[in-house]
Amino acid sequence: MAYETIITETRGKVGLVTLNRPKALNALNLQLLAELVAAVKDFDADAGIGAVVITGSDKAFAAGADIKEMQAISFADAYLQDLFVGWEDLTRVRKPVIAAVAGYALGGGCELAMMCDFIIAADTAKFGQPEITLGVIPGMGGSQRLTRFVGKSKAMDMCLTGRMMDAAEAERSGLVSRVVPAAELVEEAVKAAAKIADFSLPSVMMAKEAVNRSYETTLAEGLRFERRLFHSLFALEDQKEGMTAFAEKRKPNFANR
Ligand code: HXC
Repeated sequence: MAYETIITETRGKVGLVTLNRPKALNALNLQLLAELVAAVKDFDADAGIGAVVITGSDKAFAAGADIKEMQAISFADAYLQDLFVGWEDLTRVRKPVIAAVAGYALGGGCELAMMCDFIIAADTAKFGQPEITLGVIPGMGGSQRLTRFVGKSKAMDMCLTGRMMDAAEAERSGLVSRVVPAAELVEEAVKAAAKIADFSLPSVMMAKEAVNRSYETTLAEGLRFERRLFHSLFALEDQKEGMTAFAEKRKPNFANR
């Protein structure tokens, strides 16, 4: 499919999506939303792909939802369309999705990064929820996911003052998993995704499912869910191969990947 607001490519078993509205700092308009969701779903369904990376430009991962597109929307339109509910499709993708963030990740851009499974940041990254400066509040998870990532105090600070967090603070606060030099960002993210794509896909998908479950349930239920998934992996040849390869001091060759 020909996309206008994103670029898709594959690097081995990694699907790479680059947001591409440079003149608007990758502002997330409805066309970009539809294209991004379609592209990531296609990679999720592609047996040749094991993980996905979403990135932007050096200057901006995404500077937020498209303010000019939202400006004239009435309450009735927003409510009746359930504006931005479509982003939730991204969180139903079952293969791992990594956000590779350089430059601005603001508003919906920060929220998009947080919908991914983890965030690798360039040292130039700046995260923020500046919606308050526009007379609104985050609408794609900023008040909920950011609070779970960085805790109440910092989330309140970000959402109420609209200030930005740099890459060092984001790493310190647990918002991003690692910070790399800007010039190596995409390469590092693709390398991490390729590493994941080389493992047994069912165990990768179950690891993702198990970690995500921790957001939605009690510790006791989460532990039970994890243990049952863990048990089920002994039904696969990949468990035998992985453990045999360790004992034989060789690299495993997983059948399911
Ligand atoms: C539409 C945007 C945009 C946005 C930037 N642009 N952000 N257009 N929506 N979110 C456009 C500018 O209008 C400008 O277009 C061009 O991109 C370059 O931006 P500049 O402002 O000239 O660049 P700079 O001076 O470098 O400043 C960068 C910036 C600033 C600090 C990131 O652009 C900025 O503050 N942007 C808005 C950030 C924001 O408030 N995001 C939250 C959006 S609300 P022209 O045509 O003038 O060249 C949101 C709600 C989510 O995300 C919740 C529901 C989903």
